[in-house]
Amino acid sequence: MRRFLLSFTCLLFFSASLFAAEPSIGQQFLALIFERQDNSGNAYPHMADAPLWPQGKYLLEGESNQKLHALLDQLVAREAKTQFPNVREKALVQNALWQVFDYMTLDFEEQRDARAKLRPKLVAAIRHLGFSPAELAALPDNLATAENRDLPRLEASDSAWIALSMKDEKPVAAAHTMQLDASAFTVFYKHPDGRAAGLKLLDELAKVPFPLARNERGGNFFPDNAIPVKLPEGMQVALLRRMLLVDPEGRIVASPITQTLQLRTRDERVLQQRERMLYNADARMQEFHLDRAKYLAGVKDSLVAVKPDEREPLVFQAHQYDAYDDQDHVAQHPIVLQHCAACHRDPGTAALHSFTRFFTGTVKENPGLRESTLDRETRITIRTLTERDDWKELQKHWAK
Ligand code: HEC
Repeated sequence: MRRFLLSFTCLLFFSASLFAAEPSIGQQFLALIFERQDNSGNAYPHMADAPLWPQGKYLLEGESNQKLHALLDQLVAREAKTQFPNVREKALVQNALWQVFDYMTLDFEEQRDARAKLRPKLVAAIRHLGFSPAELAALPDNLATAENRDLPRLEASDSAWIALSMKDEKPVAAAHTMQLDASAFTVFYKHPDGRAAGLKLLDELAKVPFPLARNERGGNFFPDNAIPVKLPEGMQVALLRRMLLVDPEGRIVASPITQTLQLRTRDERVLQQRERMLYNADARMQEFHLDRAKYLAGVKDSLVAVKPDEREPLVFQAHQYDAYDDQDHVAQHPIVLQHCAACHRDPGTAALHSFTRFFTGTVKENPGLRESTLDRETRITIRTLTERDDWKELQKHWAK
C-alpha cells in the first residue's frame, strides 16, 4: 500500500511539473495553427493542412495576427539549436511555417498588407530552422517504425506494392500537388496476385485509348464501358503524403515523415453493404494520419486510423470561404471516409484518378503509368514545386 501511495504521489508531482512547464515557442505556434477552433468550438488537430481558406481572416487580423507576429519574433531571437532541442518538433514547425507562408502569397485586395508584412518574417523563421542532412537523418520514419499491422509496408523491397510514375515525369498526384502545400504525394498500387501481375496490369492500362468517354450528366463520372481494363477484387491503391522541409541553403528536401496515407481496397461487398456510399464506389476506404503529439513524444505508432464517423473540414478541392468563420455555413464538416466517394465514385479503374486524370482537365493522352520509386517521385515533385510562384516568392525573401 505504501508503495502504491508513493508512486501515486510521484505521479501527481510529475503531472504537476508537466503542466507547469510553459509550452515551447514551437508548440505555441503549432497550437495557434492546428488547434484553431471552428464556430462550433471544435478543433481538428490531426489535419495535415493548416485550416486556412483563401477568404478567411485568421492570422491576418486581430489576436491571432498579433500572436503570430509575436511568435515569429521570439522564434528567430534564440539560436535554433537551443530553441528546438527536439528535431521532430523543429520539423513539424518548419513545415507548418512553410504552409502558412504559401497562404500568405495569395493575392486578395482586403488583407494585402497583412499578408505582405508576414511573408518576410515567415521566410526568416523557415531559414532560421534550415534542416541539415544530419538533422534530417535523425527524424524517425513513422511508417517504417509503425507496429500497426493495418498499415501497408509500401517501402519493403519484397512487397508487391509498386510506386507509380507518369511517362512525362510530372507528379502523378497532380491535383494534390497543385492544391496542397509543402508535401510530396506518391501513388502506389498492389495487385492481389503479386508484383508481376501488377506490372502486367500497368502494361494493359498503358494501352487504353484516351481521351476517355465521360458521362455528360451527374452520377458517375464515366460510363460503364469507358475503360476496358478492370481492377481485380482485392486490388489496393495507396496515396502517401510525406512532409517536405527546407535546408539551410533554401532548397527543398524530403523528410521521412508520413502525414497521411489513404488506401482504397477493391471489395465487391461494398456495393451490397450498408457501407455503400455514393454512386457505385466499390472500394473500402481507409485513411491514417499523423498524430503530432505522438510523433513529438517519440511514440512509434504516430499514424492513427481515421474512425468511420470522424469528421474533418475540407481543404482539398474546398470552397474559398473560411469553413470556420463563415456565418452562413455553420461548421458541419464531412465524414472523412464517406467523402472519399465524392471523388472516387466510380467502380474499379474509373476511380483510379492517377490514371483517369479526371481532376486535371480533359487529358487527350494516356498517362502511361509505369513502375517507379518513392525517391524518384519525390524528386520529380520537388522539381515541380520549385517552379511554382509561391516558391519563387519565398526565394525572393530568402536572399535578404
Ligand atoms: C476532392 C476529391 C477527392 C477526395 C474527396 C478524395 N480523393 Fe483520393 N484522389 C483524388 C484525386 C484527384 C486523385 C489522383 C491524384 C491527383 O491527381 O492528385 C486521388 C488519388 C487517390 C489515391 C491514389 C490512387 C488513385 O486513385 O489515383 C488513393 C489511394 C486515394 N485517392 C484515396 C482516397 C481516400 C481513401 C479518400 C477519402 C479519405 C480520398 N481519396 C478522397 C481526389 C479525391
